[in-house]
Amino acid sequence: MASIAVRQTSMIERIFSIEIARVTERAAVAAARLRGRGAEKKSDQAAVDAMRRELGNLPIDGTVVIGEGEMDEAPMLFIGERLGTKFGPKVDIAVDPLEGTTLCAKNMPGAIATLAMADEGALLHAPDIYMDKIAIGPGYPKDVVDLDAPGDENIRSLAKAKGVKPEAITAMILDRPRHAELIAAVRKAGAAVSLITDGDIAGVIHTARPDRTGIDIYLGIGGAPEGVLAAAALRCIGGQMQTRLIVDTDEKRERTARMGIKEPRKKYRIEDMVRGDCLFAATGVTDGPMLSGVKFDKSVIETETVVMRSVTGTVRWIRAEHRRVDKF
Ligand code: FBP
Repeated sequence: MASIAVRQTSMIERIFSIEIARVTERAAVAAARLRGRGAEKKSDQAAVDAMRRELGNLPIDGTVVIGEGEMDEAPMLFIGERLGTKFGPKVDIAVDPLEGTTLCAKNMPGAIATLAMADEGALLHAPDIYMDKIAIGPGYPKDVVDLDAPGDENIRSLAKAKGVKPEAITAMILDRPRHAELIAAVRKAGAAVSLITDGDIAGVIHTARPDRTGIDIYLGIGGAPEGVLAAAALRCIGGQMQTRLIVDTDEKRERTARMGIKEPRKKYRIEDMVRGDCLFAATGVTDGPMLSGVKFDKSVIETETVVMRSVTGTVRWIRAEHRRVDKF
């Protein structure tokens, strides 16, 4: 019985690894139509609507656990919203229909539409607050870097484990005033800093293939929902990640408790944020280092999507040509 159940689950997962690509493709195309219009809210809403419509068609009994906000503040894809035909497996869904709203509004590189799916109860229900993050790719001893260690120490530990000088390490960090000290510490250790204006899900994913991306480590504070989505991707492709929610006001403490989090100061590892197998998908909205953006032609729309599956660690890059442009 058990083996049949396992087999069925992984069959379902295999089928969904194509289906979730369809969901992020739709969201990306909807947002891309508004690229460069300076319309952050409008493009986000377009992505939300498209993603919700497409998720509604999936044969799942899904619950949004990372979404556009809590029920009273988000009319769609709110946390707790049930999605899918209801005839299918019970799953947790984490969505960021438009990651990098500013990037899309300014038509700058790196905006993506993204989604992760896992068994019911597997994903951390993170409130929409900040989270401290550190991530590295696969192949290193466990806990070689530590969220609580100073930036320069982490660079030296990572360089030693990689067998290179700190000067050969590159860290990716969000360009924010709150990271000034961290950036100085990383540079003091000799490492290079690659600054991004937005988009830390892709930032974390970059660490999984430093040979291609040139990024060895991701450091700094970003959104907690983005942290869970990034953890889902690393769960599929390997790597280490440590995070901690930044719960610095009573209001955030209350919201964190409402999400069922009993230890708000807990240091999370990937397996605490994604407790089981998962799928992850992202489609490029604007051209970026990870994914090409949507291309529009009179009769064809082109998209590029990456789909990851933790059961096998397979990563699929899907370049799609959509000819029924009227359907988008
Ligand atoms: P949005 O798409 O919601 O604007 O998020 C973009 C982003 O850069 C995330 O990747 C990151 O986690 C977060 O914003 C950082 O927050 P802030 O812009 O407040 O520093």
